[in-house]
This record gives sequence, structure tokens and C-alpha cells, in this order.
Amino acid sequence: MFFDAPPSPLQLLEHSELVGMPIWIKRDDLLHPIVSGNKFRKLKYPLLRIAQQLDSPSPPTLVTMGGMWSNHLHATAFAAQAFGYQSIGLIRGDSGVNSATLDDCRQQGMQLQFVDRTSYRRLRTEPLFWQQLLPDFSCRLQQFHWLPEGGSDPDALRGVAEIVGELELQQPKLPDVIMVACGTAATLAGLLAGLKGRSTVVGVAVLKNAEYLRGEVTRLLKHAGYPDYQNYQLLTDFHHGGYAKSSFALQQFCLQFCEQSAIMIEPVYTGKVFYALRELVKSGYFAPQTSIAVIHTGGLQGARGSLRV
Ligand SMILES: Cc1ncc(COP(=O)(O)O)c(C=O)c1O
Repeated sequence: MFFDAPPSPLQLLEHSELVGMPIWIKRDDLLHPIVSGNKFRKLKYPLLRIAQQLDSPSPPTLVTMGGMWSNHLHATAFAAQAFGYQSIGLIRGDSGVNSATLDDCRQQGMQLQFVDRTSYRRLRTEPLFWQQLLPDFSCRLQQFHWLPEGGSDPDALRGVAEIVGELELQQPKLPDVIMVACGTAATLAGLLAGLKGRSTVVGVAVLKNAEYLRGEVTRLLKHAGYPDYQNYQLLTDFHHGGYAKSSFALQQFCLQFCEQSAIMIEPVYTGKVFYALRELVKSGYFAPQTSIAVIHTGGLQGARGSLRV
């Protein structure tokens, strides 16, 4: 079955010149060649839920949204095809935009529909607005299922929470600190759900002005039925100019990291986490014996759009 994967490896990174102290890396990037990292974790329970709800002979249609380099769209297109489902991607931008990611989505059978900025914003804030954008929505024969931006459905948290169970089996004790990239904050919230108040999650916001993500963590936990866990810190100063923006220093760091560790990281998500980690270690943010695990959330395909400063 698609989501029956063994636990992702937990690997020790000993090269102290990279970040300044030994670090564990949870290699979720190895979970699946395409549906990798947090996409695998976040899509698992929403897709299993849909599989259980099937009540019509025609395949359901997954509807979701994303930008032209979105890892979520890419993974959803693939997973939908693997389940025999149809998929529609609502893409930010006009129909002239294209990318290798969108080409891959089309190849997996995803139907792409381009939406302007205003509509895209409404998709984020109005839970049922997507229905107004689909001409066939009222067609009774077709079952549509919505996945919000980044796949950050309440059921997504349950899949991410499974990381914690794996860590407990892989180590005698949970790491003191777990670091992860934050876009919608669902992955961070899922980790909190699994930790149930233990350890501390340090989330590195990959976008600018990300203070609002604290409210999102609360909202996501609440919608998924978990308590409002507060054992996390949100770092908002390591965005390097904003979402999918990068700095020369970050690009250099990612290259050096890949060369020295033989682990590929990209500058949109995991690269920003390791960069932040190195800066925090340099500034003495962590007590000397702190055990730290970084979640490698995958998404290397998206780096095809970020190889510029
Ligand atoms: C590779 C990768 N890492 C991290 C994130 C951030 O995850 P979240 O949106 O759950 O905060 C994303 C976006 O979903 C991603 O594609």
C-alpha cells in the first residue's frame, strides 16, 4: 500500500564545521522518491480518509492549490494518480506561467487552472471559495475533495505526529530540540501533536512577516482536536528575503552542506533550517549537551525554481 513505508532513517551528522555540533537528521526526504518529506506525512491521512468515503463508481477528484514550484502540488498530482483519483491544481498566476513542476503535474494527469492573486488570497481565507472556481462543481456524479494550501488539512497533523513515534523507537530518549521549516506551520503543529508537550520544536519560518504563524499553530491544533501546545519557538529572522527568496550566503551554505555531508538540501526550506541552526549554535543559543534533530522535509524538486539569488 502506498503509505506503508518503513520509518525514515535517523542519521547522525558529525561534521562539526557544518553546524558546530553533532546533529541528528530525520531523513523524511527518503520516504518516497516523489511524495517525499512532509508531503508524504501530510497527505497520508487525508487520502486514506477519502479512500474510506468513496461512495460512487467514478473516481473522486482532489482539488488543491499552489504556486508554480509547489512541492505540495507535485506530490498531490503523483499521489492522486497512484490512488486512481483525478486531480485539479488551482495555480497562482496567469495561464502564461509554466515550470518544470507544472509540467510534471500535467504529466501525472493533474488538470491545471490558473487563478489571479485576489482569488488565490480568497482560497486561503474562505474555506469553500474553491467551489466557485470549478465549473463542474455542481455535477453530482463527481466527488470533489479539497486539500488546502500545502496539504495542511487537519488530518495532515496525524501523519506528521507519526514522526515522534518513530523517533521514540530510534533513540532511547526523544531529542531535546526538533527543528523544522515552517510554511503553513502544519508540520510544526503535527510535531507538537505527536510530542504531547515533550521536548521543544524550533520552527524556522521560510517567509517574511511570519508572526501570524503562531495563530495558525493554535488554529491547526484546535481543528485537529489537539490541545494548544506551546512547547515551541518560532524563528522569524531566517527567511533570507522571503518565501522562495535566497541570499548568496544561503546558496553557498547549501552547496557546502551538500558537498560535505552528501545530503542534498535546498534553499527554500531545509537549507534555511540548517543555516539558522548554524547561526544559533554560533551564538550559544543551545546549552552544550542539547540533543537536536532536524526534520529533512524533502521537496528537492522545488529547488529547480530557486537556483537563483
Ligand atoms: C519541503 C518542504 N518543507 C517544509 C514545508 C513547510 O511545511 P508546512 O507548510 O507544513 O509548514 C513545505 C511546505 O509545505 C515543504 O514543501
